[in-house]
Amino acid sequence: MGSNPTFPMNAAAGGATPFAAGPLRGELRVAGDKSISHRALMLGAAARGTTRIIEPNRGADVLTTRDAVVALGAHVTDDGDDFVVTGGTLRDPAQTIDARNSGTTTRLLAGLCAGSGVTATFDGDDSLRRRPMERVARALRALGAVVETAEGRLPITVRGISNLAGGTYALEVPSAQIKSAILLAHLRATERVVVTGDARSRDHTERMLAHFGRTILFDGRATQLEPGRLVARDVRVPGDLSAAAFFLIGATVARGSNLLLRDVGVNPTRTGVLDALVAMGGDVTIERARERDGEPVADLRVRSAPLRAIEIDGAYVVRAIDEIPVLAVAAAFATGTTHIRDAAELRAKESDRLRATAIVLRACGIEVTEHPDGLDIVGGAPQLPETPLPVFDDHRIAMAIAVLAAGANGGSIERADAIAVSFPEFADRWSGAQRGRP
Ligand code: S3P
Repeated sequence: MGSNPTFPMNAAAGGATPFAAGPLRGELRVAGDKSISHRALMLGAAARGTTRIIEPNRGADVLTTRDAVVALGAHVTDDGDDFVVTGGTLRDPAQTIDARNSGTTTRLLAGLCAGSGVTATFDGDDSLRRRPMERVARALRALGAVVETAEGRLPITVRGISNLAGGTYALEVPSAQIKSAILLAHLRATERVVVTGDARSRDHTERMLAHFGRTILFDGRATQLEPGRLVARDVRVPGDLSAAAFFLIGATVARGSNLLLRDVGVNPTRTGVLDALVAMGGDVTIERARERDGEPVADLRVRSAPLRAIEIDGAYVVRAIDEIPVLAVAAAFATGTTHIRDAAELRAKESDRLRATAIVLRACGIEVTEHPDGLDIVGGAPQLPETPLPVFDDHRIAMAIAVLAAGANGGSIERADAIAVSFPEFADRWSGAQRGRP
């Protein structure tokens, strides 16, 4: 990640970074959607022709995918705004692909390689090396690829085959990453492939395949991809709802807020955070809803509001998998006890997000009980300590603490550089909104 000019100097040096108390106002655009940006780079690399990716996410994870598709034979120009990808023929990379902190890069590209006759090894940083890779390895082996892992973790080597047959594959858990890996493995298949066992995990791969000219049916439970050719198409990337979530909840809990977030992706497989926040009493209105390049997009207006506790489990969790830490922050300000369940997956993200969230909230005086698959959070009036809070090398934990600080008494985090994984412009946009006018 290194130094980043948008962060205060001490962040690059590893010092504490402060976040102020107080309302968020004005209007802004959050970082481009990370999931969509990864997929646009990958489909652009696989499609013959040229794909312009407009307003992509420019966090470290997406730049990792940009570099990885170049290593796999795509040509990418990056003018600092858009990516322009020329693809069509993938080849074995000369070296191990360094996926750094990015699980999505690793798992989706492992799928793409598995069906493109490409042999590639992926490795990553210490955090990615701790994350499970056996599930994707098992799925790709079932397709016929040879996949080696280091006891279920990185490094992972995929020896791909060309022209995979089709078939029906059942997901062990509803993971968009595994589903996408199977679909990307079948881009060149000559028969239909069906993936079952989903529970409305994010469907960006399916939508983008349709945008790139493929015939695909999906209803949230099963996905059916017909054989065919990819046609390179430009992709305008919406704002990332997972990034917007920090502003939505920050503006809800920091009294006096009134904020407009422009051009945010509101794909229904991602809007669990909106549903949960509204169920808690949040004041969010959706304006200018429209569809752009196959994805629903809208402007979101949020005003501060008192919150009450709810139950967050089952379908909520799949549709808000990355927003649970910031929803837990909302729960810390709510009246009553919020129960989060069915969220064991969170223990295998960039950090153990259940543990990390519990530690941070307890440090702010909030009573939290940890369960194997969730948390009970007794709402109240969080107070951040004077000492900087730990972020567990996890961008979403770091940004969740900015939300706590805004709604409470301000505070600081030990390291802000982790945020650059998904949202390098965060500190600027956040402090801009705190200085913003109504
Ligand atoms: C992602 C899928 C989710 C999510 C991750 C991005 C994707 O993982 O947590 O941040 O882009 O497909 P799972 O689908 O494995 O839960």
